[in-house]
Amino acid sequence: RKQAPLPDDIRAMKGGTPIVSLTAYTTPMAEWMDAHCDFVLVGDSLGMVLHGLPSTLGVTMDMMIMHGKAVRRGLKSAMMVVDMPFGSYEESPEQAFRNAARLMAETEAGAVKLEGGVAMAETIRFLTSRGVPVMAHVGLTPQSINTLGGYKVQGRGAAGDALMADAKAVADAGAFAVVLEKVPEKLANEVTAEVHIPTIGIGASAGCDGQILVVDDMLGLFTKFKAKFVKRYAELGHGAEEAIAEYAKDVRARAFPGPEHVFADQAPAKKS
Ligand code: KIV
Ligand code: NA
Repeated sequence: RKQAPLPDDIRAMKGGTPIVSLTAYTTPMAEWMDAHCDFVLVGDSLGMVLHGLPSTLGVTMDMMIMHGKAVRRGLKSAMMVVDMPFGSYEESPEQAFRNAARLMAETEAGAVKLEGGVAMAETIRFLTSRGVPVMAHVGLTPQSINTLGGYKVQGRGAAGDALMADAKAVADAGAFAVVLEKVPEKLANEVTAEVHIPTIGIGASAGCDGQILVVDDMLGLFTKFKAKFVKRYAELGHGAEEAIAEYAKDVRARAFPGPEHVFADQAPAKKS
């Protein structure tokens, strides 16, 4: 693909080949995934996996903008979506628009993502009717961890109806896709069948219209804990620690730097 898809192109992938996405926070990571992903999310998960925060609640607009700019420089053919951080959109549609416009202007994101279903429908309609494409996020919404009472599976049993209503509300409000996080497989399949926009699963179902994972989780770079829904495709964190230990050993043994890493007093003659 030469040009990055637009939100409408992602919307049109409903029911087709699954939509591939990952989070990214830095330029090199964005470059590695650019050719393989339909969209890349600058997720507020960066607060936990990069900055060591205990949750996503402490993430700021400035952090999202700094990492959004870095990711932007690494993407050519994947669309970029940036998360709206906690406190930047919940107060009113006007507040949400002001901050979404700033995120899009400063990072050149193609869309923003925000958490919430029925409660955010009015805000999603306000944004999408004013030039801000919105990806919604329902089910486990980590910014609401203090009212959800933990990172539990959402929508089990009778709670499934409310989750279905959330997904329908964001679709009707104009969201071009919706993330379903940590919901039972059966409910994820029902939501995917019922709503007219793509569902992007994380801890949901292979039957969703697409999948997303936090890249540091799937690469084994974030190792504090591993959610059941994470598949580790690599163990880069262990590799990094082994490499660092070897470097420390080499330095203490004066085995690094070697002859190939040091400079002679005279510059070598230029080859012609
Ligand atoms: O912040 C994030 O990484 C996310 C994804 C897990 C969907 O919101
Ligand atoms: Na997020």
